[in-house]
Amino acid sequence: MIEKVTTLKRIEGEILTPGDKSISHRAALFNSIASGESKLTNFCVGDDKLAILNCLKGLGAAIEESNNSIYIKGNGLNGLSEPKDILNAGNSGTTIRLVSGLLSGNDFYSVITGDKSLRNRPMERIVTPLSKMGAIISGRERNSLAPLTFRGGNLTAIEYKMPVASAQLKSCLLIAGLYATGKTVIQEPGPSRDHTEKILQSMGSQIKINESTIEIQKSELSSIDVNIPSDTSNSTFWIVAGCCHPNASIKLKNVGINPTRTGMLEVLNAMGANIKITNEKVEGGEPVADITVESSELIGVEISGDIIPKVIDELPILALAACFAKGKTIIKDSEELRVKESDRIKSTVNSLTKLGAQIEETKDGMVIKGGSQLVGSEVESFGDHRIAMTNGIAGLIAKGETTVINAESADVSYPTFWETLRTLGD
Ligand code: S3P
Repeated sequence: MIEKVTTLKRIEGEILTPGDKSISHRAALFNSIASGESKLTNFCVGDDKLAILNCLKGLGAAIEESNNSIYIKGNGLNGLSEPKDILNAGNSGTTIRLVSGLLSGNDFYSVITGDKSLRNRPMERIVTPLSKMGAIISGRERNSLAPLTFRGGNLTAIEYKMPVASAQLKSCLLIAGLYATGKTVIQEPGPSRDHTEKILQSMGSQIKINESTIEIQKSELSSIDVNIPSDTSNSTFWIVAGCCHPNASIKLKNVGINPTRTGMLEVLNAMGANIKITNEKVEGGEPVADITVESSELIGVEISGDIIPKVIDELPILALAACFAKGKTIIKDSEELRVKESDRIKSTVNSLTKLGAQIEETKDGMVIKGGSQLVGSEVESFGDHRIAMTNGIAGLIAKGETTVINAESADVSYPTFWETLRTLGD
């Protein structure tokens, strides 16, 4: 599918982005192994939603969908059963890594795979610690790539220092830790999103969060209803559109503003963005708010260090914002971008260069010199939802017409993205 986007004279609107993908994954997975019934409202949409729900259903979870809500009947920690077929996580890194924690904890045989992109993403980061806990796991390329096979059960707790700050790895180990004998202690090199810790606390698990470690012990969970906030990462596309367009005002409703996710607000505020947060409240243990954004005079900044895991998914769209900022923006310490749905350093630099940006690839990031006029061109999605959407937003602001090839990649997390984009102005 090809989408053609032209410059808008004014961007205006109120947007409710679909439910947060990270929180949806956790709400579905933990309620599937909890005791009791739960209702999940405003669940995420798109192919990644199907990936997690199909894997859980393949494991025998009782999940039903009606009127946009998900209903789950949990049968306790050991209520899942051996899957009769190969589980398919599609394009979703969160699905394969979180579900791998489950497969390791359960005394059965299972196989999980994914699409071409996922089959090339690193899995040794989960295979190594899960094997130390006692799971028997094999995979391609010396057990480092999917498909992965599991013979789980009888896990023993470990103390593990994670080599990367990754919420997917941390969550995978916390899930395995729920099934292990003893106390699993996980140390992260830097802070990553904490939705797993938050939901496990609300469901009554034996989890303890210390300054630099997290401890978990075998525990039964109680089902909880969750009203999922609007996706923080997908909201960022519209926030950047509002900041960078010279005549814009956009309001985003009910956005998740968990501090481990709002690195993008920290960065944009440091760049001088015109952003207002109102109507702050806590829903299901997660902070949410409305975000209003207006045209802004941005300045370049450095994005590096501990903030990187908190903006990891937003770096392509922040790179676009940097094209409209006065001065230089340097993005460092973000080599993890190379192992996302695409090599996001390469795909961002390729797209923005085609649109006329002054952007250079570095080993662990990008350097962007702001201020050049972006001009519409033909850009690729690299099979990556976030690159497709970054290019769509660029098209709203670049001069002339931007053609986004393989625009359907946005369907992975935001199937209504293009429709929403077309409602924004004239
Ligand atoms: C996610 C964690 C991040 C992020 C991904 C979603 C999650 O990955 O890039 O889109 O829901 O845990 P890493 O934790 O591996 O960096």
